Amino acid sequence: MGMRLVLVGAPGSGKGTQAEMLSNYYGVPRVSLGDILRQEVDRGTDPGKIVKEYMERGELVPDKIINELITAKINGEGFILDGYPRNLSQARSLDKLLVSKNRSLDKVIFLKVGLEVVIRRLSGRRVCKNCGALYHLVTMPPQKENICDKCKGELIIRDDDKEETIKRRWEVFLKEVEGLIDFYSQGGRLIEVEANMDKEKVFKKIISLLKEPPESF
Ligand code: AP5
Repeated sequence: MGMRLVLVGAPGSGKGTQAEMLSNYYGVPRVSLGDILRQEVDRGTDPGKIVKEYMERGELVPDKIINELITAKINGEGFILDGYPRNLSQARSLDKLLVSKNRSLDKVIFLKVGLEVVIRRLSGRRVCKNCGALYHLVTMPPQKENICDKCKGELIIRDDDKEETIKRRWEVFLKEVEGLIDFYSQGGRLIEVEANMDKEKVFKKIISLLKEPPESF
């Protein structure tokens, strides 16, 4: 049975980047809610049509749609969840879903960054249209301009990485995060990590904290 982790953090805090690294390290799949939603939009499904409007405005997609989509993706074995839960109600739904499968979360990792870092990271982000690999023009540039190192796909700017939308996403994050963090810290499941360091340092810090014995040890 694999590791079951959740990554929480502001837009651009590095959830996707760290989820990919943790997924490789622990050999469990990364489940990215943002990617699942973008696929629904690209495929033009009924939920996708509703989702598109929320994502373009930087608002949270209604919980009902989110919970339905996530239920289909989580089998209770190992996973690295990126971008879900994002509010208290989603956190409670996830616990219920896992209990129904006789499972629980191992840890919730909160990646802490400020608004300045968020804007710097998201305005330089590029994403492979084909495989979803992440790049940054300054800190993680591709070998060839606008071409993915892994699959040679085209690199694009995400629709919601415009400055006004980034600020709205940040406000939404601030509004929801406190309830989420309180919920997980009360259950002793929270790990907080300063995420304004390069990605390898953040990753090493997460791994070292995950390996620490529990407080009651
Ligand atoms: P989603 O796609 O999840 O976006 P987000 O949460 O805003 O997070 P990002 O993907 O922008 O950033 P990230 O933290 O993954 O950072 P990344 O690793 O890419 O969600 C999009 C939208 O979908 C939401 O706004 C909402 O509308 C909807 N949605 C999603 N989940 C939902 C839910 N549960 N409920 C309701 N609605 C939901 O890194 C960013 C950049 O920084 C990259 O360029 C990367 O290369 C670079 N970088 C990363 N780490 C470092 C580092 N340590 N140092 C330097 N650069 C770094």
